[in-house]
Amino acid sequence: MQERTEVAIVGAGPAGLLLGALLHKAGIDAVIVEQRSAAYVMGRIRAGVLEQTTVELLEHAGVAERLHREGLPHNSIELAFDGQLHRINFQALTGKHVTVYGQTEVTHDLMDARAAAGLTTVYEAENVSVHGFDSDAPSVRWRSGGAEHELRCDFIAGCDGYHGVCRASVPDGAIRTYEKVYPFGWLGVLAEVPPVGDELVYANHERGFALCSQRSRTRSRYYVQCGLDEKVENWSDVAFWDELRSRLPDEVTLRVTTGPSIEKSIAPLHSFVAEPLRFGRLFLAGDAAHIVPPTGAKGLNLAASDVGYLARGFAEFYRDKSAAGIGAYSDRCLRRIWKAERFSWWLTSLMHKFPETGDFGQRMQHAELEYLVGSAAASTALAENYVGLPLEH
Ligand code: APR
Ligand code: PHB
Repeated sequence: MQERTEVAIVGAGPAGLLLGALLHKAGIDAVIVEQRSAAYVMGRIRAGVLEQTTVELLEHAGVAERLHREGLPHNSIELAFDGQLHRINFQALTGKHVTVYGQTEVTHDLMDARAAAGLTTVYEAENVSVHGFDSDAPSVRWRSGGAEHELRCDFIAGCDGYHGVCRASVPDGAIRTYEKVYPFGWLGVLAEVPPVGDELVYANHERGFALCSQRSRTRSRYYVQCGLDEKVENWSDVAFWDELRSRLPDEVTLRVTTGPSIEKSIAPLHSFVAEPLRFGRLFLAGDAAHIVPPTGAKGLNLAASDVGYLARGFAEFYRDKSAAGIGAYSDRCLRRIWKAERFSWWLTSLMHKFPETGDFGQRMQHAELEYLVGSAAASTALAENYVGLPLEH
């Protein structure tokens, strides 16, 4: 096991793996240290909508070949309310589209590329800890195979997700966090059935929000808003399909193909931002730094843009001997993060049933939905945010 690297990356989720791939392209040495097994990381089912900026970063990292073959370009989404469907055509409004390709597949491609390039990833590292990031000699330590390990490095990239050790290792006084917890969750089902149609359908309904998404022409991903106290064991497949269909316009309900679930899980909805993202030689990226509710499909895209900026900063540091990029990292990311936080919060507020809003709140949601689909300016604002903004230069 090597004892020194340039960048030690903690966490092999999409943020850590993409950062590793971008650094490899830039000729910078990096080792990834992950607490779980590769199979566990691969088994997590998460979102599946990629912004063009994310696709470009994956292209740049040399891992977009299968994405281009199997990813589904989407030019629109459908908003459903009052039993009607309303198309928001991104292509017409912004000239851009998004690509539907599961996070699991992105992770798979990144892992394969990493293995093919012979790059080091330590899986099943126990008791990972980060040290000395406020000095010139940072290091990452862990235990595996019954032995203690230490990896010395120039920088640590904290890509270890919301529950990771990196953010938790920053002294309380140096970090500020902002948080909102929503009074509901999403119950999600993955099934080997064809999707309801070409487009994703986001439905506002009096029984609660529903989303029809997809992974391929034969695999669908669906969600229904549920209470925070609900238990996934209490949801049979039949109950799920009935609830989903009850929340969709008739024309969509008729197109729902049901089948056995491959995966079923409940996720709470949460907004969270940590500021700043840099602490000496430690940089936070991805879910370690921020969480968005999934409504705007921004989680994976923000993780990608963070590591895009970070890889660029490290490339400038090693190649140009300039610390300007890593110096600007936190502010640059946070500008983008807060825009995505706003959009995700807004779309969540617009589409869900809130226990406490009452009749007035429902009428306001309805008026806003009518305005949104009736106004070119409002539709364009939605489209611009959904397809995502370009990276700053
Ligand atoms: N030491 C090492 N690895 C750790 C530690 C630790 N102490 N704690 C967590 N990890 C690992 C996790 O096991 C996980 O594999 O860090 C990885 C973090 O991955 P993600 O949670 O997927 O976060 P990220 O890579 O930032 O990806 C963001 O994931 O949650 C979605 O919506 C989100 O799509 C977005 C994406
Ligand atoms: C998904 O396919 O899992 C998905 C799609 C769009 C979202 C959230 C999740 O907004």
